[in-house]
Amino acid sequence: MLPTPTPDALAHSQRVTAYLRSLIEDADGWIPFSHYMEAALYAPGLGYYAAGAMKFGAAGDFVTAPEMTPLFGRTLAHAIAPVLAETGGEVLELGAGSGRLAADVLGELERTNALPARYCILEVSADLRQRQQETIARELPQFAGRVQWLDALPEHFSGVILGNEVLDALPVELVHWTEAGPKVRGVALDGEIFVWQDHPIADAALRARAETLNLPPGYVSEINLAAEALIASLAQSLDRGLILMVDYGFSASEYYHPQRHMGTLRAHYRHHALDDPFYLPGLCDLTAHVDFSAVAQAGIAAGLELSGYTSQASFLLNSGLTELLMQTPPTDAAAYLPQANAVQRLVSPAEMGELFKVIGFGTGGIAPLAGFARGDRRHSL
Ligand SMILES: C[S@@+](CC[C@H](N)C(=O)[O-])C[C@H]1O[C@@H](n2cnc3c(N)ncnc32)[C@H](O)[C@@H]1O
Repeated sequence: MLPTPTPDALAHSQRVTAYLRSLIEDADGWIPFSHYMEAALYAPGLGYYAAGAMKFGAAGDFVTAPEMTPLFGRTLAHAIAPVLAETGGEVLELGAGSGRLAADVLGELERTNALPARYCILEVSADLRQRQQETIARELPQFAGRVQWLDALPEHFSGVILGNEVLDALPVELVHWTEAGPKVRGVALDGEIFVWQDHPIADAALRARAETLNLPPGYVSEINLAAEALIASLAQSLDRGLILMVDYGFSASEYYHPQRHMGTLRAHYRHHALDDPFYLPGLCDLTAHVDFSAVAQAGIAAGLELSGYTSQASFLLNSGLTELLMQTPPTDAAAYLPQANAVQRLVSPAEMGELFKVIGFGTGGIAPLAGFARGDRRHSL
């Protein structure tokens, strides 16, 4: 049974729905799903990420790794510290959510005397930018000047570009493979109700990708051109250093597996995963798994070196997660048990350890990362 939204939340969702309808009407009755997803998530003051929804944590709709334990961010700090030292560079975090990861990474870099001159955040949501500023001001007031929010990617950047669960939050194209070839799936109106409608693919890049995938009639799935474009822009910005992206997904052969014929698009509402992306617009997160083969190819095509691809479990364990956990004595059960429990969720194959992956791209000849030393799976992409 799904929790009932409050009257205020319902009124907000009705405003978002009216806005989405107006987009469809203004576009002569049809928009591609990527436009629906973009607006439902990011329309200023309306979209899920751009208005006041709680989103993360127990009272929100989903829980991300940084919200589960500070050990996630602390481990990532150890993973990236050698690159910061080697490049003398900075950190740039994309899509920083509540600011939790930034606070944990910075705290650990300070403890280990590895602080960069700046920790930059690029965040598309004004609401989340404010939340991140509050988190940093509350927990790390000494870093007020060191953390900076950017409005666009810098033209030149050295150091580490980091993103946790950013690629899965980018608007995806939906494609329906039919007897007559692939069609782009979009949203139309039947009276006031959103309905699916398939159109010929006008975008040449999307059509070429859909034709190359050549999936059987009836197959519906996503193609995330925005993720590929983001990696290409990061490649342009990064002079020397590392791009590290953590997200859930798989290689193309698993992504477009015959059994996954309904794709991976889901709505998340109060810790329930739903198949219906039209449910309560503005109150639900919309996400799709990441096709890491496409991400890898986009990076390589943009001139980056693929420095590693592995499971979240391998990356965190290689980077010293267990050693950090052991800094809390197991005899101090009240402190140790919640951390051990969160670590178990991060690395267990039945939870996040296997579904979540870490992909790294390097440029400028930086040394290999310890995080990819064991369990590297680049060959599977
Ligand atoms: C699923 S949330 C993850 C938040 C946080 N990284 C975490 O792990 O808790 C996705 C985040 O990416 C942001 N985002 C989406 N598109 C982005 C883009 N093109 N550039 C930067 N941030 C983006 C969202 O506003 C949000 O902060």
